[in-house]
Amino acid sequence: AMLDDFKGMSGKLSISVASTASYITPHLLAVFCQRHPETKVSLSVTNRENVLHRLTHNETDMVIMGRPPDGLDLDATPFMENRLAIIAPIDHPLAHEQDIPLSRLAEETFLVREQGSGTRITTERFFAERGIRLTTGTEMSTNEAIKQAVQAGMGLGILSLNTVSLELETRRLTVLDVQNFPIVRHWYVVHRKGKRLSTAGQAFKDFLLEDVKL
Ligand code: PGA
Repeated sequence: AMLDDFKGMSGKLSISVASTASYITPHLLAVFCQRHPETKVSLSVTNRENVLHRLTHNETDMVIMGRPPDGLDLDATPFMENRLAIIAPIDHPLAHEQDIPLSRLAEETFLVREQGSGTRITTERFFAERGIRLTTGTEMSTNEAIKQAVQAGMGLGILSLNTVSLELETRRLTVLDVQNFPIVRHWYVVHRKGKRLSTAGQAFKDFLLEDVKL
């Protein structure tokens, strides 16, 4: 308990995020750190599997990720939407079509994230539930690589809208208007069940749950 108290007073906060959450977390931290300038934050960006490892081994105060698996004794609370959309180059033949049927996607090639990515797991489940088999092209382990490959015409991507705001604004990429899209997920703030959060940790969690729009 003494160690926890000391940690709280020193105002240190260690956060780990799954790679896609690295697009939103700095914006959240910017506001939080302005309100709590005494807090020193360290942010580690890694994949979903490592994030879960750190959590269960108590190596991080808290984590921001997509919905974690059940059964790990975690406390997970959603605080923000995470929409997945079909991303295409702006000159794609489907770019100006509306209400594109899901089945039409079977004719396209998709660039996919690596095994263990939350984006990938969600996408695979979504199409499997609807009995649609996608043709997958190259597998890439970052959102950035997929964005570049989509621009270069290698295929379509299914990405969190959080990752492409700049490219949509500058018209390097576009979102296809496909039925049943976007897939709406959420970002969760997660820590071990029963963990006694430091003062800074509790303040950050309160900030996410009270001040960030779900
Ligand atoms: P990612 O997304 O693993 O695809 O980067 C984060 C998550 O869904 O947990």
